Amino acid sequence: MDKFHIVGPTRLAGRVAASGAKNAALPALTASLLTDEALTLHCVPRVRDIRTLQKLLDHLGIASEETGGAITLRRERPNPEHDAPYDLVKTMRASVLVLGPLLAKEGHARVSLPGGCAIGVRPIDQHLKALTALGADVQLTHGYVEARADRLVGTRFRFDMPTVTGTENILMAAALARGTTVLDNCAREPEVVDLANLLNAMGARISGAGEETIVVDGVDELGAAEHTIIPDRIEGGTYLIGAAMTGGDVLLERSNAADLAPLLDKLAEIGAKVEVTGEGIRVRADQGIAARDLETAPHPGFPTDLQAQYMALMTQAYGLSAISETIFENRFQHAPELMRMGADIRVDGGRAEVRGPSRLTGAGVMATDLRASACLVLAGIMAEGETVVDRIYHLDRGYEQMELKLQSLGARVARWSVPMST
Ligand code: EPZ
Repeated sequence: MDKFHIVGPTRLAGRVAASGAKNAALPALTASLLTDEALTLHCVPRVRDIRTLQKLLDHLGIASEETGGAITLRRERPNPEHDAPYDLVKTMRASVLVLGPLLAKEGHARVSLPGGCAIGVRPIDQHLKALTALGADVQLTHGYVEARADRLVGTRFRFDMPTVTGTENILMAAALARGTTVLDNCAREPEVVDLANLLNAMGARISGAGEETIVVDGVDELGAAEHTIIPDRIEGGTYLIGAAMTGGDVLLERSNAADLAPLLDKLAEIGAKVEVTGEGIRVRADQGIAARDLETAPHPGFPTDLQAQYMALMTQAYGLSAISETIFENRFQHAPELMRMGADIRVDGGRAEVRGPSRLTGAGVMATDLRASACLVLAGIMAEGETVVDRIYHLDRGYEQMELKLQSLGARVARWSVPMST
């Protein structure tokens, strides 16, 4: 069980490059199930979730080969069961992304229901409703989803709410359906757009990705492609928030300012200096920052995946801020840990009030989910004294070499590898 040992306070300053986006790489990897030819992906981040999915894809007969910084995926052998077992799916919900492509390509898929996680129940009813609308026979038995269809048939379907992996699953399913599919109320996240671009490079005919309505003209088969994964806006946004929080000066390289617009607008609103240049995005905060309310929303709203980091930032802002988490029902688990470090936070359901600035002091804290972990690391960098963040395997799921990137920005962060207790 690794931990992070952090000594603060330090000011984050320097250059850091974002890795490829975990949440774009995951659906890109599952797109390999849609073709018998090779799929080569560049800038796939080396994080735990990617390794987990590679294991699942290997189980499904898809071999991954790492060559020169790229990953090439190719179907190596059939897997007649087309099944994604519970012991693999339970560690990562995004495994549900194999459902759509498996069903579309093989006519059958048996995927364990992902189960909830720390931040919420996270059902997949929208995925199943849409597959049923495309003509699949979907059964839920023994904790598994079993879906069958000789060939999916294009239709018009409206999601009850924007769902990122729901939109991605159905894009992959509809790509091989007979006829045209029109999807309404789609998720508009950049990661959805990146997947659509990859699928089109494989021969799909998708238009409108990034908008509420996406049109997919089904094709008979998809072929080889080579694709570069977009930069991780959540990872990059985490470091920019760290700059604003510590009175720092950080240049984020390999980033797309348009994808980060909701955060950059908010940082400018609270008084940080935001500059977008050819080299990247620079955030400075040599003056104090002002408290501002926040409400998370589907893209192009403020991303829920940066809410915890923003809460840490607001502990250093002057005034009272109200943070509303509208996407997940239990995504304030970082609040009690921040309060143990000295933050003044009141949580009431999906709304948290933060009064700042608070003098944070180092403490032993525990991570509960990927983004809450990032929030606690930022708080530890700002706090006086030593902070030990436990269970950072959560971090390793989605942040590539986080301690090295933070060290390059001047943070005093060390990874303590503690042997698993036998
Ligand atoms: C994706 O999860 C991301 N994961 C999450 O990032 C991110 O927080 C989330 O989108 C929201 O942006 C990946 O892309 C792998 P949703 P996803 O379906 O697709 C409800 C991280 O930290 N819903 O967009 O699972 C759901 O309960 C992770 O990297 C249904 O009710 O999220 C939630 O309230 C955490 N039924 C809302 O919709 C469904 O069938 C949005 O969820 C699907 C979703």
